[in-house]
Amino acid sequence: MESAKHRLASRLEGVSESATLKLNALVQALKARGVDVVNLTAGEPDFHVPEVANVAVRDALDAHKSKYTPVPGVLELREAVARKTNLQQPTATASTQWKAGDVVVTNGGKQALFNAFLALLNPGDEVIIPGPFWLSYPEMVKLAGGTPKILRATFEQGFKITPSQLRGALTARTRVVVLNSPSNPTGAMYSKAEFAALGEVLAQAPDVCVISDEIYDRIALSDVSFCSFLEAAPALRDRVITVNGMSKAAAMTGWRIGWSVAPQWITQAMSTIQGQSTSGINALAQWASLAALKLPEAEFAGQIETYRRRRDLALEILKKAGKLKVFVPQGAFYVFFGVGGYLRAGEDSVGFAERILEKAGVAVVAGAPFGEPEWLRLSFSTDDKQLSEGCRRIVSFLESC
Ligand SMILES: Cc1ncc(COP(=O)(O)O)c(C=O)c1O
Repeated sequence: MESAKHRLASRLEGVSESATLKLNALVQALKARGVDVVNLTAGEPDFHVPEVANVAVRDALDAHKSKYTPVPGVLELREAVARKTNLQQPTATASTQWKAGDVVVTNGGKQALFNAFLALLNPGDEVIIPGPFWLSYPEMVKLAGGTPKILRATFEQGFKITPSQLRGALTARTRVVVLNSPSNPTGAMYSKAEFAALGEVLAQAPDVCVISDEIYDRIALSDVSFCSFLEAAPALRDRVITVNGMSKAAAMTGWRIGWSVAPQWITQAMSTIQGQSTSGINALAQWASLAALKLPEAEFAGQIETYRRRRDLALEILKKAGKLKVFVPQGAFYVFFGVGGYLRAGEDSVGFAERILEKAGVAVVAGAPFGEPEWLRLSFSTDDKQLSEGCRRIVSFLESC
């Protein structure tokens, strides 16, 4: 019998551990034992942090700028975030331009999302999450007391929800819709016209807020250019939270800098939540982020070109497996592929990923926790040699199935 001493809070019921972080730990343990594993699970860029960020930390240390910061972040960084967001949402008029006071700097994009769910959800409130989805969304919603409602977008529809699907999914209990473009795990991207059409549906649902997770904004790999949701649907400004950060765009994953940009009524609530939990986040990382945010876009062009080349390399090899369904990503650094044609009876992608790891020595992430039990995700955020070796191993494993 469960002892009262070990009784956990009921909010944890049905909340799972992060499957990607768990798998990464397993791969590291195998590697430490000398097993030859090609790791294609990385959820982070393999590029170095911009040197200006390292310099800014040293400067901040020398200047003793390492004390508590304001809860929502240092003013200069919030100003820079507001400027960046205004550039991405150019339809804003002077009175609707974002200002430093609309920004909360958070411990990674993750905390911005969590702050937003905590600020908006009451028990019973529903959150529409288009699937396949980044696996933390439903778990965060549950922790915040809400109910995730997955709205599945299929491979055939480009892994993007349609306006009529969204209209049909809205109920009197819907409080939030989550959007994520470019998407993790699929790399699907919404065009401005597609976002505008979703915006028109949401215009008819005035009590619904939108959380637009734009953390992969810089990594746009095809001719669909990145569109911030509010650029396409500016009329919804008073109920949209834009989430972004330095992790994917500037390879600064371990620095843990993210942010939300949102109207005052939500920003103030999120600031209160943060003030009573983590407070202002690491000061040095904030100064570093300010320096990296000032870099011109051209600084990152080489990285984007490299991602594009690696994506094409992976696709070229994977297409040799005849029964594989491969989705061509328009953004981010993942290839999502369907292995339904290869599964054993009763097997899903979790078991299949374990078999690939065991038999072929390649670590990929199962699609099940992303809402697609017959799909897998590989990351092409690794060097060409590892990537092509990993893809070749996957193909020869599939041919042996
Ligand atoms: C879609 C998506 N949103 C948010 C995050 C969280 O980013 P951060 O590392 O800045 O917390 C990730 C990280 O993997 C992600 O893939």
